[in-house]
Amino acid sequence: MVLQTATGITGLDNILGGGLPKGSAVIVEGAPGTGKTTLGMQFLYNGITEQNEAGIFITFEEFPDQIYHDMKSFGWDLRALERKNQLRVIGISPKILLEEMQKSNGLFEQMVNEINCERLVIDSISLLRTGDSEKTIREVLYTLRNILRKFKLTSLLIQERSDLDGNSVPFEHYIFDGLIRLSLKEHLELFRQRTLEVLKMRGTCIMEGEHIYRITENGIYVLLASKTAADIQESTSDFQLKTGIPSLDAILGGGLDKGTIYMLDTNSKANYRHIVASILAQRINSGDRILSLLSSIQSIEELASLLEKHKADVGKGIEENRMYFIEHYKRSIPEKWQDAVYHVHTLDNKSYNLFLKNEIYPKMNSDLNKHKNWFIYYDLNAIINERGTEYVLRHFATETAAARSLGMSVLVLCNFKEVGIQVASFLERSCNGVLKTWVDGSYQYLQITKASNGEISKPYLVENINDCPYIRLL
Ligand SMILES: Nc1ncnc2c1ncn2[C@@H]1O[C@H](COP(=O)(O)OP(=O)(O)OP(=O)(O)O)[C@@H](O)[C@H]1O
Ligand SMILES: [Mg+2]
Repeated sequence: MVLQTATGITGLDNILGGGLPKGSAVIVEGAPGTGKTTLGMQFLYNGITEQNEAGIFITFEEFPDQIYHDMKSFGWDLRALERKNQLRVIGISPKILLEEMQKSNGLFEQMVNEINCERLVIDSISLLRTGDSEKTIREVLYTLRNILRKFKLTSLLIQERSDLDGNSVPFEHYIFDGLIRLSLKEHLELFRQRTLEVLKMRGTCIMEGEHIYRITENGIYVLLASKTAADIQESTSDFQLKTGIPSLDAILGGGLDKGTIYMLDTNSKANYRHIVASILAQRINSGDRILSLLSSIQSIEELASLLEKHKADVGKGIEENRMYFIEHYKRSIPEKWQDAVYHVHTLDNKSYNLFLKNEIYPKMNSDLNKHKNWFIYYDLNAIINERGTEYVLRHFATETAAARSLGMSVLVLCNFKEVGIQVASFLERSCNGVLKTWVDGSYQYLQITKASNGEISKPYLVENINDCPYIRLL
């Protein structure tokens, strides 16, 4: 197992699964003012105060007064640590530093031994670059890396970087053990957001993604991005409905919340059918009562054959009198399934609503009184096409509120783009959770954009796999 050196920086150690690999040399890169110096010094300060590990901070500024002053604003008294021989802040030229580092028993080695140094920060290695040819710079960086390995120092090497640097990967990204990037980005066109991302860390399983950080009066504080699937423990709560897609359950914190309304916002390009089928199959196999509105693009037989792939038997559900369908279209229904299907294509909106009130709701109510669970699935765009937007706006909120109060779980398929932004935002407000899936280029993504606990997820990649449930999120 790799030994780790905790940075003591909240969030960063979680991202690193404990800390930096002991003895590794890691680049911290970022644009001016992103907090590189702060992060470096915080790593040394925490090492001294929390782990009793001495540190050296090397700056190429001749007089490092500014650093003492700046760090004081975080409450870090560097001079006091220097007096106790736990810290050295050294202002030196790059040329002399390299000379001294390479000499046997040179100033650098003496200093490391004097304070029994374990952590090092160089602020910044960008200054090693000035003027020299690319070949010499590579040699210098190699030399530096080898020296750090020899001394077994866990090191942070600060590097200035602006987002204008282009796409070529700098040489130092290859030769050092890790790369932490601090960025300042436009966010929602309203404000700039600081993010920290670990792009590389040899021998360590890292939490991927851009994590937001703040510079507070105590230094850098990293807020973890929503946890990745593998990080979340499987929940066995009775209050959650498994989707049948383990990676989706994980990001939902166990599954869909029971007794709530979820929307799946999708378009026809995205592979949503397996998501829906997997969720429905779980409900069928768990013994729930199910009501589904058949859409124009999927007949009852097509739905049944899709569900069969997900190991659910529609015929059996119908035989056991626990699956019902509402059919808006004039399609033939297999004889043996006739009793499970309500034909409503002849009903105008008013009669349709009365039919729901007089036939469907009482049926559900009597089952609910017997503690049977109901799961409802329908395609809202089909209702909009058949009944009009007005109908949906008039009834959706009351129907979902009623369903919720009765403890029914509902999954509604909808193409938010197609219904328009105003209707979509009304729908979104009326439900408890929204899963959004879309195609961008050759990839499909899925993101939880609304959740009952208020947490939205990062966008996950949707991978199509060959076996049930045919979908995996990455
Ligand atoms: N006490 C504090 N509380 C909150 N923010 C602070 C505090 N002190 C400094 N900052 C912020 O920290 C940032 C500077 O941090 P730091 O000097 O570590 O950045 P840097 O990346 O090293 O910058 P440079 O590239 O100029 O060396 C500034 O943007 C400043 O606004
Ligand atoms: Mg700095």
